[in-house]
Amino acid sequence: MLPVTARNSLARCLLRSNKSYASLLNTAANGCGECSCDTPHTNSIRYYSNGEKTLKERFAEIFPGKASEIKEFKKQYGKTVIGDVLLEQAYGGMRGIKGLVWEGSVLDPNEGIRFRGKTIPEIQKVLPHAEEGKEPLPEALFWLLLTGEVPSEAQVKALSADLAARSQLPKHVSELLDSLPKDLHPMAQFSIAINALESESKFAKAYSQGVNKKDYWNFTYEDCLDLLGKLPVIAAKIYRNVFKDGKIAEVNPNFDYGKNLAHLLGYTNKDFVELMRLYLTIHSDHEGGNVSAHTTHLVGSALSSPYLSFAAGMNGLAGPLHGRANQEVLEWLFKMRDELKGDYSKPAIEKYLWETLNSGRVIPGYGHAVLRKTDPRYTAQREFALEHFPNYELFKLVSAIYEVAPGVLTKQGKTKNPWPNVDSHSGVLLQYYGLTEASFYTVLFGVARAFGVLPQLITDRAVGSPIERPKSFSTEKYKELVAKINGGK
Ligand SMILES: CC(C)(COP(=O)(O)OP(=O)(O)OC[C@H]1O[C@@H](n2cnc3c(N)ncnc32)[C@H](O)[C@@H]1OP(=O)(O)O)[C@@H](O)C(=O)NCCC(=O)NCCS
Repeated sequence: MLPVTARNSLARCLLRSNKSYASLLNTAANGCGECSCDTPHTNSIRYYSNGEKTLKERFAEIFPGKASEIKEFKKQYGKTVIGDVLLEQAYGGMRGIKGLVWEGSVLDPNEGIRFRGKTIPEIQKVLPHAEEGKEPLPEALFWLLLTGEVPSEAQVKALSADLAARSQLPKHVSELLDSLPKDLHPMAQFSIAINALESESKFAKAYSQGVNKKDYWNFTYEDCLDLLGKLPVIAAKIYRNVFKDGKIAEVNPNFDYGKNLAHLLGYTNKDFVELMRLYLTIHSDHEGGNVSAHTTHLVGSALSSPYLSFAAGMNGLAGPLHGRANQEVLEWLFKMRDELKGDYSKPAIEKYLWETLNSGRVIPGYGHAVLRKTDPRYTAQREFALEHFPNYELFKLVSAIYEVAPGVLTKQGKTKNPWPNVDSHSGVLLQYYGLTEASFYTVLFGVARAFGVLPQLITDRAVGSPIERPKSFSTEKYKELVAKINGGK
């Protein structure tokens, strides 16, 4: 495999020249003789020749200011009381307690997610898209989440090429994936492969060699981009091994991330490629308190490498109350479809929903710990379906449930949010294009989540975030505390 500097330089030269990847690869280790650039492949840090900054260069410029801003903010307002904590919150999964810092996105209960201040419709408008498409490129969102800036088209193109150049899996990870039993859940396989990439961690190596903490961000950045580059290959290998013939296509260095992922999975339909771009973008980030984001951040705070931190987050995403809900929705929908036999009338759906609730189960894809309205990620997917396949039977069923479920959940009176979340819709879109294997869906969610949690991991190391360590009490201790607060009563 090429050393990283050579791969980086190669990616840039691909963009500059009209030579093929293979012909440039031949010369990469010895210096560039093939394309029109004047720098050897082995000796460069830039990807693009038009003078625009790379993501790493831009981040290196931005973060010292951010670190000073945080330092000054803490110094001036560090003792400000920002909230009260109720006993019921300690027992209630810490809902609503402000105790985390997450720069990429903030979730408003009614309005939904904003990525660096921008709503989903806004990012659909302002982020660069592929020449042949109109959905935002997830690489562009990664740039926005890390820097707070909207990148130019050329910068995104360079980032796509950089990620593609980092995509190769080490042999042991490839072989490990091939050796796993087909009936091992795809999310378990995903996590195993990411953990096994620890062998590649530049952060872990640098740390063991005593690197100065000021440089943590640099190695974290490299690990995060390497990991992001490799995730489509891992995901596709799992998919092709478990459900297809085990063969996967080559990463194409001229494709954007979503297009490469779609092609590696074996889907070349241009609308499916567009769906992948949208899917990766809207599933990326949902502020910091959700299980996958918080876990990645928490484990990273112990200075575990990005590989180990992200794998831990993925183990959380695999839970049915979190990312796996997209699989649960599909399984539940299919049972409903079989039972209703084409009768998608309101009374028939209502009856089925009550049966689900009365049997002590949740309605998958509905409810949310923070949101109190329809998830805009649901709406974005619904709009995609309305544009591309308004008459698809499963979409009609999902739409019919949307008419009925909020009323039923409100009548039941338990959930604080009777509206649909992101997982309620995603599976149906994938089904339409033939990606029907629901147990794989959370892996796609996992690839997307990397776009949200890795920028925070880089930022954490750049601004010197400390190890996380909130306070816990036993029930006995809480009783003592409550008695003391209540004046001994
Ligand atoms: C997402 C979820 C885990 C949030 O949990 P939460 O913050 O505890 O939600 P609430 O405070 O509204 O829960 C209050 C009660 O309503 C219930 N509830 C919440 N969503 C429900 C749903 N979709 N169907 C039935 N009951 C639901 C909870 O189980 C809880 O019941 P309990 O008091 O018997 O324990 C929950 O809504 C859920 O389980 N949804 C279905 C799974 C899903 O779609 N997950 C993906 C989320 S993006």
